[in-house]
Amino acid sequence: MNRRGIRMKETLWITITGAMLMSTLTASGAAGKSGTTTKTPWGKTPDGQQVDLYTLGNQNGVAAAITTYGGAVVSLKVPDRNGKLGDVVLGYDSLDGYVNDKSYFGALIGRYGNRIGHAQFALDGKTYTLAKNNGENTLHGGTKGFNKAVWTAKEIPAKNGQALELTYLSKDGEEGFPGNLHVRVIYTLTDSNELKIDYSATTDKTSVVNLTNHSYFNLAGPGSEDILDHVLTMEADKFTPVDSGLIPTGELSDLAGTPFDFRKPTAIGARINEDNEQLKLGGGYDHNFVLRRKPGEPISLAARVVDPKTGRVLEVWTDQPGVQFYTGNFLDGSVRGKGGIAYTKRSAFCLETQHFPDSPNHPKFPSTVLKPGERYHTTTIYKFSSEK
Ligand code: BGC
Repeated sequence: MNRRGIRMKETLWITITGAMLMSTLTASGAAGKSGTTTKTPWGKTPDGQQVDLYTLGNQNGVAAAITTYGGAVVSLKVPDRNGKLGDVVLGYDSLDGYVNDKSYFGALIGRYGNRIGHAQFALDGKTYTLAKNNGENTLHGGTKGFNKAVWTAKEIPAKNGQALELTYLSKDGEEGFPGNLHVRVIYTLTDSNELKIDYSATTDKTSVVNLTNHSYFNLAGPGSEDILDHVLTMEADKFTPVDSGLIPTGELSDLAGTPFDFRKPTAIGARINEDNEQLKLGGGYDHNFVLRRKPGEPISLAARVVDPKTGRVLEVWTDQPGVQFYTGNFLDGSVRGKGGIAYTKRSAFCLETQHFPDSPNHPKFPSTVLKPGERYHTTTIYKFSSEK
């Protein structure tokens, strides 16, 4: 063999080895955490409980980081129309941000998502008094909701992606709610770029349950000013108007002809400053939309949001009767999140799939009562894609 022949062989060997190395990196996750789950110790709570951060990665390079503190989604990296990954959720770089957080960034919410009026409800003739943490009312489970609990985590097998199981026992009487509630939440990051959340719970005394996730989305990625140009379509014909404490009045109002009508794709900011009593009460959108249920279909599309700048698309699918559309009206720039970014008013939106707020005090709303022997189970899917 002449020297040139040897060099050619060497070049070929280097190329093959390089290609093998690349594929090993991709499979092991070092080049984008594809198809893997990693666990990292994330510090201790002030009372000494160990907290971890799990990062689920799918085959497309999409990655979801979830902490056992509050079961919060810490980051969610999804591609734009050019395949560029960007983190589309608000949050903090480290545990102390979540310990001090008052905005519920990314967190699991329970035992009761959104408000319960006057912090009380009656069940089987008995009145239960809850913690007041929002004026006269209870918000997102009370002073120490599920967002402030350390959840027990376990990686579990998933057919089409990576899954993490989180469990928590909410004790009888916690924040005033009756019954020991065993809660199980499974986050699955699928290879179809979906973050699927399965919630289930059982109780040993009749109680009320309404679980959700409080991720704040900005599809344009970190540091983007506001979400007013994001285009929203909502599968809802009615919403539940509220009083000055943001407690539903009990009516289901037609949204036709109002700034709440998102039946056709409409920019979130197109009508947000209109002279409308409900918008004024919420300081923008902070309302429960009544989802149009399709008979016989357990999970259906609830909402679709497109960011025109990056082409990122979020679809929310759920089996729940409502979704709280909140436009980050209470963010005021005082909170600094990931990368030191100040989170300003309307720099994100939430689509919290749920039962209607204050249902325990509205017998005409779909029931949130859970009895011993029954199993609460709901599913929500946040599906990401992009368009030109
Ligand atoms: C509520 C808002 C609240 C926000 C953060 C939303 O679900 O509807 O009123 O400010 O959560 O707590």
